[in-house]
Amino acid sequence: ATHKLLLLPGDGIGPEVMGEVKRLIDWLNASGIAKFETDTGLVGGAAFDAHKVSISEGDMAKAKDADAVIFGAVGGPKWDAVPYEVRPEAGLLRLRKDLALFANLRPAVCYPALADASSLKREAIEGLDIVIVRELTGGVYFGEPKTITDLGNGQKRAIDTQVYDTYEIERIGRVAFELAKKRKNKVTSMEKRNVMKSGVLWNEVMTQVHKREYPDVTLEHQLADSGGMMLVKWPKQFDVIVTDNLFGDMLSDIAAMLTGSLGMLPSASLGEVDVKSKKRKALYEPVHGSAPDIAGQGLANPIAMISSFGMALRYSFDMGALADKLDQAIAAVLASGLRTADIKSEGTKAASTTQMGEAILKE
Ligand code: NAI
Ligand code: MG
Repeated sequence: ATHKLLLLPGDGIGPEVMGEVKRLIDWLNASGIAKFETDTGLVGGAAFDAHKVSISEGDMAKAKDADAVIFGAVGGPKWDAVPYEVRPEAGLLRLRKDLALFANLRPAVCYPALADASSLKREAIEGLDIVIVRELTGGVYFGEPKTITDLGNGQKRAIDTQVYDTYEIERIGRVAFELAKKRKNKVTSMEKRNVMKSGVLWNEVMTQVHKREYPDVTLEHQLADSGGMMLVKWPKQFDVIVTDNLFGDMLSDIAAMLTGSLGMLPSASLGEVDVKSKKRKALYEPVHGSAPDIAGQGLANPIAMISSFGMALRYSFDMGALADKLDQAIAAVLASGLRTADIKSEGTKAASTTQMGEAILKE
């Protein structure tokens, strides 16, 4: 089957790191290993410069039609003063909203060659391979009421509201359990049922989904605060962590820093499975931004972008074996000592974006 990809390189280092994914796709096509049909669109500052929008309706339509969207990064000082509705980030938010991407997957993987770059001891981090599944479209970031009221006595009151419905917890739970089935068969659900009603419901629904649909997967419950502590102390005890929007935001950033550079971290955002086509909408992007400080110089580390494409192979196209090979190639290149500037040690020579991409492809 032919897989349809929409590439949205964006701004800054986005096009540079996307170039290395394109190199990989072209090679996969040429060698007959896979068949990808790629189209390229504009997002962020690039779309603003061309059409005065953050993403055009034409490119939105292409995104909806694609089997997966591969996204680079958006933003930069050039667009700091553009109107709020068409600022670069608006393009990414629009994609997340219109594709209804409710599940955000952030792996934290420690490549052995980089274990000493972590803030943790080598034995705590070497071989780490966990995924945080964060609910992305509900919870306290979107719940109503969301207000600041003047109380009139020199005091103001701020209100944010955490709202979760059963179906929202069920669907994010299913993503986590499905993922666990392809991994070590274990899910840890994190909430704060001791102080939050949403935590009580989260716990109850996860337990039901588990009992009803995934009895063969191990489910553990952990309070989110002590879960954070355990994540920093001995992260290898986890495999798949599933949690709400707010806790997931914090826990995934913490997990990211266990493994080193921003230039290494991929992510996937998944939508609902379409009943007819059995496919789900998905967007794959590196965690980092457009890095204006190093853009245009060939210095960017392409690994986060390449690994994001690896996640697309795994989660959108069921090519897990190929994704494994890609991960192994990245590990081997790092083990050989080749490093971009962000991950190299002092006194050694840095590889360029292109050299890193070519080495991974060769491997
Ligand atoms: P950033 O992630 O772009 O950069 C932070 C630091 O990490 C910089 O020193 C940068 O050089 C370095 N870095 C990032 N990716 C790297 C890579 N692949 N290789 C080597 N070094 C790398 O975050 P920052 O500086 O806060 O934001 C810059 C711009 O990017 C802003 O306009 C921001 O709004 C936007 N941004 C966009 C995101 C997205 O498109 N999803 C996410 C985060 C920020
Ligand atoms: Mg965050």
